[in-house]
Amino acid sequence: MDSGLENIVAAETVLSDVDGKAGRLVIRGWPVEKLAAELGYEETLALLWDGFLDCPGDAGSVRRALGEARRAAFSHVGTFGPAVGVVSYLRTGWSLLADDETLETALALPAAAAVFTAAAIRELQGLEPIAPDASLGQAEDFLRMMRGRPAPAPDVKAFSAYLVTVSDHGLNASTFASRVIASTRAGLTSAALGGLSALKGPLHGGAPGPVLDMLDAIGAPENAEEWIEAALARKERLMGFGHRVYRVRDPRADALKAAVAQLPGTAGRIGFAEHIESAVLKSLAVKYPERSLETNVEFYTAVLLEALDIPREAFTAIFAMGRILGWIAHACEQIEEGRLVRPKSVYTGPVPQIA
Ligand code: ACO
Repeated sequence: MDSGLENIVAAETVLSDVDGKAGRLVIRGWPVEKLAAELGYEETLALLWDGFLDCPGDAGSVRRALGEARRAAFSHVGTFGPAVGVVSYLRTGWSLLADDETLETALALPAAAAVFTAAAIRELQGLEPIAPDASLGQAEDFLRMMRGRPAPAPDVKAFSAYLVTVSDHGLNASTFASRVIASTRAGLTSAALGGLSALKGPLHGGAPGPVLDMLDAIGAPENAEEWIEAALARKERLMGFGHRVYRVRDPRADALKAAVAQLPGTAGRIGFAEHIESAVLKSLAVKYPERSLETNVEFYTAVLLEALDIPREAFTAIFAMGRILGWIAHACEQIEEGRLVRPKSVYTGPVPQIA
């Protein structure tokens, strides 16, 4: 038995390869650092969906189709009443979409993620939703819809680098959930909803909000050591550290740190985060000398999304806007593979009494 399934290979994939020993992530032939620096959201969608659903291979066609799909998604905004929290808003919105295995539904999911997440953030702030501009790219239009004003180019570049960096990552918990659902032929929207529900847990995509809570609670560099030791003594997990697969630093941490460093005015916050990061790594190395607990993607995700004025309550939904590209590609791959996912369990309950 392998309760965390860590030693089970459950799929062949052309989508991404996570090398946990070397600290390398390759997404369809692209090292993640190069992908983050060179490809935008639409190009990454075309890359990941290539060969599935007759997806157009050029970023221009994808951009036009996503823009139209954002416009269509906006017609749902405000029709489902007040939702609790940004993830719930996105989940409720997604559940209004068609649930089939078509390109139209596949495109509606990322498009709706941008529209619903921006509307949910504005609702949190007591503001009216802003309609999409179908002529813009997804990253630029999301920031505009959220803020109510055009986003400067460096912000768009940094946000796009984030979305692309988290677009796929092997058979992580949410992607596996999406594949299991897709294997039942339930539809792409169901697969996305399952992925989102798995993502929201604090051990997976729910970690970056609490990373900022930790930075706030520490407050100043001189408090770091005492705060960290007390948290570890209470057996708390320090968010943004440790990973099921990586035994070295998560390569996405540096891709995101590079992206946030491009934004003006972030040097002080990065310096503080680096100080806390090295204090945490020092304490974890003493407490778990055998384990190699290192920085994961969520630590600098938090610093980057905060620098873009995205409220921490929305971080998981923003993660989903990137990861939906991988969920859909994996769902399509699983559908093509054609096998229902159905593992076994070992029964340890009471045996029937023989009369
Ligand atoms: N802080 C403190 N202790 C930790 C941490 C951490 N961040 N991570 C692991 N540990 C401890 C575990 O409690 C365990 O201790 P124990 O033996 O006393 O029970 C020991 O280190 C070994 O744990 P692992 O086997 O390495 O952990 P596992 O592979 O089950 O979990 C996980 C990986 C869930 C990511 C874990 O490291 C964690 O909870 N991290 C904090 C949450 C986080 O940052 N999640 C985002 C991950 S990235 C992503 O999903 C997008």
